[in-house]
Amino acid sequence: MLKRAASIVREAEVFVITAGAGMGVDSGLPDFRGDQGFWKAYPAYARLGLSFVDCANPQHFADDPSFGWGFYGHRTNLYRDTVPHQGFHIIRKWIERNRADYFVVTSNVDGQFQKAGYAEDRILELHGSIHWLQCQAPCSSAIWCNNEAIRIDESSMRARPPLPRCPDCGEVSRPNILMFGDWSWLPDRTRKQERLFDRFLLTHAGRRIAVLEMGAGSAIPTIRATSERIGWNLEHATVIRINPREPEITSPHISLPYGALEGVRQIDAFL
Ligand SMILES: NC(=O)c1ccc[n+]([C@@H]2O[C@H](COP(=O)([O-])OP(=O)(O)OC[C@H]3O[C@@H](n4cnc5c(N)ncnc54)[C@H](O)[C@@H]3O)[C@@H](O)[C@H]2O)c1
Ligand SMILES: [Zn+2]
Repeated sequence: MLKRAASIVREAEVFVITAGAGMGVDSGLPDFRGDQGFWKAYPAYARLGLSFVDCANPQHFADDPSFGWGFYGHRTNLYRDTVPHQGFHIIRKWIERNRADYFVVTSNVDGQFQKAGYAEDRILELHGSIHWLQCQAPCSSAIWCNNEAIRIDESSMRARPPLPRCPDCGEVSRPNILMFGDWSWLPDRTRKQERLFDRFLLTHAGRRIAVLEMGAGSAIPTIRATSERIGWNLEHATVIRINPREPEITSPHISLPYGALEGVRQIDAFL
C-alpha cells in the first residue's frame, strides 16, 4: 500500500489535501472524537457535563458571552501557539518537486495550513476560521481579522472582560465559524473560497490528482465525502486516506492506518 501511495504521489500533477481534526493531533492539538476525547481536552466541560455540540453553539454568544468566548478564546490562543508538524512541510516539498498545483480543503478552523506556508487562495475552510470574526447579531455581513487578546479563566472556562465586540454596533462578536444549529454564521468568506476551489477542479479535472486525506473522522463526514466525491468522479484521481483508527476506503483508493505525520513520512521514505 505504501509503495502504491508513493507512486501516486510521485506521478501527481495536482494535489488536493483534505484534512480533519486528526491532522492537528501530531502538532499536539486535540481532536474531539466522542465525548471522552473532548472531555480529556477540556476537563472543565466534563465537570459541567457539556459535550462538544453543547459548547459549539452560537446561542452562548447571545445568552452568556463570557462562556461562549471561554471555549473559543481558549482555542484561539491554543491554535495561535501551535507549530504545525513536519508533515505539512513534507507535503509542500512534494508539491514543489512535482511542480504541481494544489488546494487544501479542511473542516479545521485552526489556520494551521496558512501557518505552514500554504497560500491563502489555495485553502477552503469549510467551517470557517477562528482567526476571523463577525458580529453575533449579525448587524452586517462584515467579517474581520481576529486580532483580539483573549484571557481565559481555565477553571471556569470563562473569558475575562473586556470581550471582543463588533466595531459597528458594539454587540459581542464571535468567531466566523459554522457552529451547531447556527443560523447567524456568515458564509461569505467560505463561499469565496469555494468558488476558487470549484474553478481549480474545473481547470484540473483531467489531470493526475492525488487526494491526500488526513485525520478526517466519520462522525461529521464532510471531509471524507469531499475526498470520495473527487476520487470517484474524476477519472485520474486517487484518494490516499491516512487515519490511525478509521482508514477504510474502497479500492482502488488507498487506505493507510497511520497518524498523519507517520503516514506522510512513510510515503516519503518510498519516494
Ligand atoms: N483543529 C480544529 O480546527 C478542530 C479540532 C477539533 C474539531 N474541529 C471541528 O469539529 C469537527 C470534527 O470533525 P473531524 O472529522 O475533523 O474530527 P473528529 O475529531 O471527529 O475525528 C478525528 C479523526 O482523526 C483521526 N486521528 C486521530 N489521531 C490522528 C493522527 N495522529 N493523525 C491522523 N488522524 C488522526 C481519528 O481517527 C478520527 O478519525 C469538524 O467539523 C471541525 O470543524 C476542528
Ligand atoms: Zn454588529
